[in-house]
Amino acid sequence: MTRPIVIDCDPGHDDAIALLLALASPELKLLGVTTVHGNQTLEKTTQNAIRVLELAGRSDIPVAAGADRPLTRELTVAAHVHGESGLDGPSLPPATGTPLGEHAVDFLERTVAASERPVTLIPTGPLTNVALLLERTGGANVERIVLMGGAIAEGNMTPAAEFNIWADPEAAQSVFHSGLDVTMVGLDVTHRAVTTPAIQERLRGVGRIGTFVADLVDFFSVYHAQTYGWEGAPIHDAVAAAHVIDGELMTTLHRNVEVELESELCRGRTVVDRWLRTERPPNAHVGIELDTSGFFDLLVERIGRLG
Ligand code: RIB
Ligand code: CA
Repeated sequence: MTRPIVIDCDPGHDDAIALLLALASPELKLLGVTTVHGNQTLEKTTQNAIRVLELAGRSDIPVAAGADRPLTRELTVAAHVHGESGLDGPSLPPATGTPLGEHAVDFLERTVAASERPVTLIPTGPLTNVALLLERTGGANVERIVLMGGAIAEGNMTPAAEFNIWADPEAAQSVFHSGLDVTMVGLDVTHRAVTTPAIQERLRGVGRIGTFVADLVDFFSVYHAQTYGWEGAPIHDAVAAAHVIDGELMTTLHRNVEVELESELCRGRTVVDRWLRTERPPNAHVGIELDTSGFFDLLVERIGRLG
């Protein structure tokens, strides 16, 4: 039985790869894509989501645009990582389709409520849309939330915080305190999903979409080479999607996660009680290990199915 999902994203190179992985995986039924501010402005992330779906011949998948800024914080985009378009690098035709007329949160409420089977949400951007949905519905008919964001250890937007959480920490805190089944796919595992030139060659060898993904990685690697000295790029968001496809790839611990809201220095830090130093109750399944080769084997094989 396929698992109904919605991906809430800010494409973004790795969001695009997560979308393609989900489209190629028969275990999942992508009910729709909702977009949010983050890697670029909402207008650009929405256009990029449509562009990627059209590239894969899936303009049948509805796209609904959501929040164009965080709940309370100022909007900050990551053009330094993803470029002016949010999907710089490979040539990709402009979108021909348009998003739905309804707001992403309205789409999420309607679509989740109408699903016969509880829906898995896979947020891969700032959590503004998801927080607004939970505020409205309490998470009714949401099976679980598998989010890319946070870090037990170092951050990437600041030394303390990962971008998706840093961008809208209030939204993130409300998701971690929702009482729902939340899985945090943080930098501790996504920084183990860094491509190599050999993986890019494997992707080029499986077809047109694999070549597009490899071209995305070429651009996405520039920032990571400058920052970390890596030969490739971490496919953060695809790790979240892969975890829903195959729960054996990532090892998790049930731990308490709190989000720092007061400090400017540590804004958006996910404080994960990894070693049970407090009495705070566990509220998330936190990724600690990743089967890197298993992840890339899945990614290459599934992307190859898209032709
Ligand atoms: O910190 C990495 C996350 O921020 C990824 O989801 C990337 O796409 C950006 O949204
Ligand atoms: Ca993202």
